[in-house]
Amino acid sequence: MTDYPQKLSGDEIRRKFLEFYRKRGHQIVTSASLIPEDPTVLLTIAGMLTFKPIFLGQRIPEFPRAASSQKCIRTNDIENVGRTKRHHTFFEMLGNFSFGDYFKEQAISWGWEVSTELFGLPKERLIVSVFDLDEETYAIWRDKIGVPEKRIKRMGTNDNFWNSGVTGPCGPCSEIYYDFHPELGDDIDLEDDSRFIEFYNLVFMESNRDANGNLTPLASKNIDTGMGLERMAQILQQVPNNYETDLILPIIKKVGDIARADYSKSDEKTKISLKIISDHMRAIVHMIADHIYASNAGRGYVLRRLIRRVVRHGRLIGIDEEFTTKLAENVIILGESAYPHLRERESAIKTELQQEESCFLKTLARGEKILAGVINKLKHQGKTIISGDETFKLYDTYGFPKELTQEIAEEEGLTIDSDGFTIEMQKQIKRAQSSHKTIDLTVKHPLDNKSSDHIHSTEFLGYTQTVASVRVELLLVEGIAKEEAEAGMEVQVVLNKTPFYAESGGQIGDKGSLFSNDLFIKIRDVKKESDFYV
Ligand code: ALA
Repeated sequence: MTDYPQKLSGDEIRRKFLEFYRKRGHQIVTSASLIPEDPTVLLTIAGMLTFKPIFLGQRIPEFPRAASSQKCIRTNDIENVGRTKRHHTFFEMLGNFSFGDYFKEQAISWGWEVSTELFGLPKERLIVSVFDLDEETYAIWRDKIGVPEKRIKRMGTNDNFWNSGVTGPCGPCSEIYYDFHPELGDDIDLEDDSRFIEFYNLVFMESNRDANGNLTPLASKNIDTGMGLERMAQILQQVPNNYETDLILPIIKKVGDIARADYSKSDEKTKISLKIISDHMRAIVHMIADHIYASNAGRGYVLRRLIRRVVRHGRLIGIDEEFTTKLAENVIILGESAYPHLRERESAIKTELQQEESCFLKTLARGEKILAGVINKLKHQGKTIISGDETFKLYDTYGFPKELTQEIAEEEGLTIDSDGFTIEMQKQIKRAQSSHKTIDLTVKHPLDNKSSDHIHSTEFLGYTQTVASVRVELLLVEGIAKEEAEAGMEVQVVLNKTPFYAESGGQIGDKGSLFSNDLFIKIRDVKKESDFYV
């Protein structure tokens, strides 16, 4: 392998990139939360999201140039995670941005300098792509930077026109690729990821796309860029994939220790599980640190799904104990110098993980057993499709996620009837609408909507007990007393007695759970309202 001038750690790459742009007049902006301000996206998917209102002319920038290392989550390619060299749910995007200040020529020139001088990549290993209608960019690469024409590739709208969403700021882009195998010659197919990796995307943000797909020029011409930190680390550390960089490998090793599996000696299937677990744990820890909690909708569901995939892949490689909190510690150690709030959120992260994991393990054990029976029966009958009805029953009655049924089916060489599942789901929604399916959480005393006069104050048991058998005295939905609540709703409850500490005097409220035979309520917070613990 080539000897680079420097073999940098992930932390050093991040620091050097930001330092390079700081010296060139860029304001360094700390990573924004994974919960974006932008309501059109669920999670922060790129460094530019923070600056979207500036690009659109809705906010006056406080500085004309910025640079950041932004934590991002993308789940659109989740099935590729762990299977390719470079797909992740969580990754860090290094970026430099110009708000109506410098444009193409400067962005390209610095992009090249960062690649070839700051990180010392050999010029002859770099290929660039340009949007096929963007002659100006082509000419800059060829004439100003001196890239030979055979290493400038024209690409179409799908590859080299970048949109932050269906609507919003967008523009042509130009990408820099690294060639791992220049010895294979000039027959260049940039789609071949065994040979090429795109590591730096320079977007020339100059248009706004409206809901009808029409483009209008933005008030100013802007620059938005993204360099994958993990990808640059793979290149500089000369490892076969992003996972084997110092940003992720320590987590893989920790999972390996728990599973008693040595990554380097493992078969492909085990390696994939080790990678999936490590990737997802990074996403999970950062999501909870940013106050995303597992639920059945939106971001919360993304988190829940990631945790469940971790648990399941843990079981696939022979882990039969609870393990996610141990890995969380590892992720925190790796990330805390760049993201100090990870340590501050340690207890919330571990509590959430522990609760989700133990709850899911029970669901999993039951669902897997039932599914194994279904699969056995199908195989005996020589069939290959798990019906929508069976998949839905597993989901609806046993809480076993459809994605897992699908994954397990694929592992067994079967498929699921997704359309059939959707039809069953729609039927279920109709049934729920007509019958208002409720959970059994009946308030024990008749109540009006205003008062809690009829109930006694909550007896506090927390000095001696952490578990107790209790009665629900009052159920509130959005602050209003109700007789019943539907599954999945956020509710408040007042209990006749409780082992939970309530938030007071700087102490945060306890977390935990409340359950009966067919009911599970996750307790996120406890407050004291006069004599009642809510
Ligand atoms: N916003 C561009 C991207 O995500 C840089 O690739």
